[in-house]
Amino acid sequence: MSKTAVVTGITGQDGSYLAERLLHDGVTVHGLVLPQELNEMAESTRSIVYHAGDLADPASITRVIEEARPDVIYNLGGLSSVAFSWEHPTLVGQACGLGAVAIMEAALRLQTAIGKSVKVLQASSAEVFGNPEQIPQTELTPIRPVNPYGAAKAYAHLSAAVFRSRGLPVSTVILYNHESPRRPDTFVTRKITSRVAQIARDGGGTLSLGNLDARRDWGWAPDYVEAMLLIAAQPEADDYLIATGEAHSVGEFAALAFAQVGIDNWRDYVIVDPDLVRPAEAALQVGDATKARERLGWRPSAGFAELVGRMVDYDVAQLNERLTP
Ligand code: GDD
Repeated sequence: MSKTAVVTGITGQDGSYLAERLLHDGVTVHGLVLPQELNEMAESTRSIVYHAGDLADPASITRVIEEARPDVIYNLGGLSSVAFSWEHPTLVGQACGLGAVAIMEAALRLQTAIGKSVKVLQASSAEVFGNPEQIPQTELTPIRPVNPYGAAKAYAHLSAAVFRSRGLPVSTVILYNHESPRRPDTFVTRKITSRVAQIARDGGGTLSLGNLDARRDWGWAPDYVEAMLLIAAQPEADDYLIATGEAHSVGEFAALAFAQVGIDNWRDYVIVDPDLVRPAEAALQVGDATKARERLGWRPSAGFAELVGRMVDYDVAQLNERLTP
């Protein structure tokens, strides 16, 4: 019998890649979208059953899960910008923390009612580790967030273990930064690649950035979606960390992006804006995905330079013609 999945965050980078994969595999896909997005989404993709709801509104989540009666729920939604979370900590706490718990609660209730397991995949984040002493981090690194987004994600992450102990098969996937041409330019990678493409076309201009020394473990988003599918297919729920194991600085990312369009003196184009430097953040995030490699057979398909090159090439091409990312 064909499977049914509910995907939150279906309009985002990961949700859109995941929905495509699930549809390809013959899964019936239900997507949670904000009420104001419903009409536009329903018209754009008829193969997905869209429901109006909001992770910050637990009643709407319960309703969608009761209606869809899914085999699996992928909770990828929420407000995923760390920078934004400093401005709106309550909202981020509701969407990323309480919203996830509302999903687990509704899934457990459905599971009890229908007598059949309802799997949940909770998208957790490297931000739950804050400024970890352990480098690289693993699934066992202490949870010690340093910003409101990380704290909200930590609440959801810890709740997954609580619900697991109550019999709900909820897995977590601790995702390190993962990028693609579908990333909005509120994130540093896409901000860099879209601006670099513009500078290359215009023959000049500047790029304003915050902390150039922050180091991140950047991977290719479709690989991370692949990991989600592998985790959801496991017979036992568990925690998995998904990362490349390589850290690079924002400055290195910018240097490679400029090099991709033939500009070597990248520093001449970059302005460091103190307003873009965050109040507190992890200086170095790098993950050890050994468990995922050994148990799921997962490994990243693209390296750092390839990732930067693909994103810049896409943005350069997009300036000339409209492309589907
Ligand atoms: N956004 C942004 N804009 N970040 C900048 C800028 C800038 O102009 N300049 C420097 N940075 C630095 C940030 O301070 C951070 O250290 C790094 O670039 C990456 O920032 P983002 O791309 O905004 O991502 P993030 O690391 O904060 O969060 C992403 O990764 C997490 C997992 O590690 C998001 O995808 C989160 O949702 C995710 O949980």
